[in-house]
Amino acid sequence: MSAQSAPGPVFPEIDPDEVSSNPSGNRSFQDVASTFLSRRAALRGGTAAAAGFLVAGSLSGAAVASPPAHAVPAGKPAAPGKPGSRGLLGFAPVPTSTDDAFTVPPGYETQVLIPWGTPLSPRGPQWRKDGSNTAAEQEQQIGMNHDGMHFFPLGKGREGNRRGLLVLNHEYVDQELLFPDGPAEMTREKVAKALAAHGVSVVEVEERKGKWQVVESRYARKVTGTTPVEFSGPVKVTHPELRSNNAPMGTLNNCSHGVTPWGTYLTCEENWNGYFGTEDPSWSPTPEQARYGINAGGFGYRWHLADERFDVARNGNELNRFGWVVEIDPTNPKAKPVKRTALGRFKHEGCTVVESRGRVVAYSGDDQDGDYIYKFVGEGNWRTQRALGRSPLDHGTLYVARFEDDGRGTWLPLRFGTGPLTAGNGWKDQADVLIRTRQAADAVGATKMDRPEWIAVNPKNKDVYCTLTNGTGWPGEANPRTPNPYGHIIRWAEKGRDHTATTFTWDIFVLAGDPAYDSSVDLNEDNIFGSPDGLWFDDEGRLWIQTDISNSSQNLASRGYDNIANNAMLAADPRTGEIRRFLVGPRGCEITGVITTPDRRTMFVNVQHPGEASAAWGAPSPANPRAVSNWPDFDPQGRPRSATVVIRRTDGGIIGA
Ligand code: FEO
Ligand code: CA
Ligand code: CA
Ligand code: CA
Repeated sequence: MSAQSAPGPVFPEIDPDEVSSNPSGNRSFQDVASTFLSRRAALRGGTAAAAGFLVAGSLSGAAVASPPAHAVPAGKPAAPGKPGSRGLLGFAPVPTSTDDAFTVPPGYETQVLIPWGTPLSPRGPQWRKDGSNTAAEQEQQIGMNHDGMHFFPLGKGREGNRRGLLVLNHEYVDQELLFPDGPAEMTREKVAKALAAHGVSVVEVEERKGKWQVVESRYARKVTGTTPVEFSGPVKVTHPELRSNNAPMGTLNNCSHGVTPWGTYLTCEENWNGYFGTEDPSWSPTPEQARYGINAGGFGYRWHLADERFDVARNGNELNRFGWVVEIDPTNPKAKPVKRTALGRFKHEGCTVVESRGRVVAYSGDDQDGDYIYKFVGEGNWRTQRALGRSPLDHGTLYVARFEDDGRGTWLPLRFGTGPLTAGNGWKDQADVLIRTRQAADAVGATKMDRPEWIAVNPKNKDVYCTLTNGTGWPGEANPRTPNPYGHIIRWAEKGRDHTATTFTWDIFVLAGDPAYDSSVDLNEDNIFGSPDGLWFDDEGRLWIQTDISNSSQNLASRGYDNIANNAMLAADPRTGEIRRFLVGPRGCEITGVITTPDRRTMFVNVQHPGEASAAWGAPSPANPRAVSNWPDFDPQGRPRSATVVIRRTDGGIIGA
């Protein structure tokens, strides 16, 4: 996210999540990776020329116990731009662009669906293009800043390809665009509208006569910053550190997501710390609060001025109710969202759930510079657990990843009484370990990473991929990139192809960037990209990569980002390493959230925060909300809006093929 603040700078010099709050001495990933890569270069008897080992890297030359299935010969990606060539990618790459437009390959068509402010019911309150919808109206409309998303088909077979529930996150709000008069004066009504624009929308959509539209639905609902919630798992709602001045409610900064085998949606609380603040000069954060990035100013939302709930000095435990994974049943609008505390408390980017040996395994990155990658392994068969009336997400073990120099890795358990997590070291119980997950991970020696974002599992061979969006870099021997402004994608293979395993082997799938600025990057005009974030595999094994270049860097030569231009989505063939740019978004946006219908012939992609304050383009204001972008309405009196875009082939074929 790029949190907007007012008053103060229109865009932060750097994003808050690009600042580490990890004071531990744990080794960074770059340190480990550089050692590993240096060793591999030495094994090959050559220099560490990046192209050879950074793209579709082969672990076969390294001293690893069991080469992962993705071990393929290193080399350049197959030449892109040849539709019909063998491989998974059959579209012509889209050029980079600085246009205020959403561009797809020839042979594809798009339709804008559910922009911010669309009523959940066709009879609901209509969007007001001057931003004057009230908080009560926003409660019945699609939220702002669309992010992670899933399509739950309704109806059997072909029916499920043209009708279903779109469930999507609304990560944060751009307050300059949310209110007609901007955020300079903060009021209770504005806080209420902002809270109503956060959370999750459940909306029924249907294709009628070739056009997707919102239809009246008994499932339509909003989960917002004020929706009553439950807590489950080792941390009870009655826990002393969760007692606050208000009832348990709300989910905030819902970034990416997950889907369970039993058909529920998981929404993840990422930069929740930024909403809290105080004017009390006597307040200062505890070490626990500082580790989670809590400070008096927050990200500049200033909600605490109008709502005591967000005042850390007056309601200090409220923030302990955030940082969780929240389960929502999309087909039961009456069911309360449940915060699943066994999955830990951190800045969850997403929560990718897979099954292995009958158990559920949930992968989750903690997106802050220098933070960690986690996985939760359920206890016992998930079907049996559910038959016993227990949630498979309430019982199990949370692990954190350590990446070794030699291409191996270990999952370290965060279990009270195990290793350093003992009473003698000040840990009270498992609830304490989970409330302070980051510090527990520090204690066991997890590996610091360059901002872990989405995680995706290849359905063809079970390799796990994780975007590391960018980082400031950490001390180490011959780091591949310190700092790492462009990010990379790491992947690993769990031992025995079993996601419950506690060891793995890893390599780097691709190093992002622009070879004009970094000669170690093996990309070209058809696929240069930076700051990978969203990541998703379709059922045929295509890897979809979405980018989130911060608006403090996007389009700027001074940051090495002018050639890469606007944020984009690319597709990769993990078997060959080939990558092609599939779409480019409008100005100021990021591309995040992607899913298809089961037949893969309709794709839904989210455009988040078009028109946000940008170092390259300027800043929206109440007088001119269109200063950066006017996508998608291009109404001379309107304002830019996040939206879902429907993408189809004009010949009705499979997307990407
Ligand atoms: Fe919400 Fe880490 O992006
Ligand atoms: Ca962002
Ligand atoms: Ca993200
Ligand atoms: Ca991001």
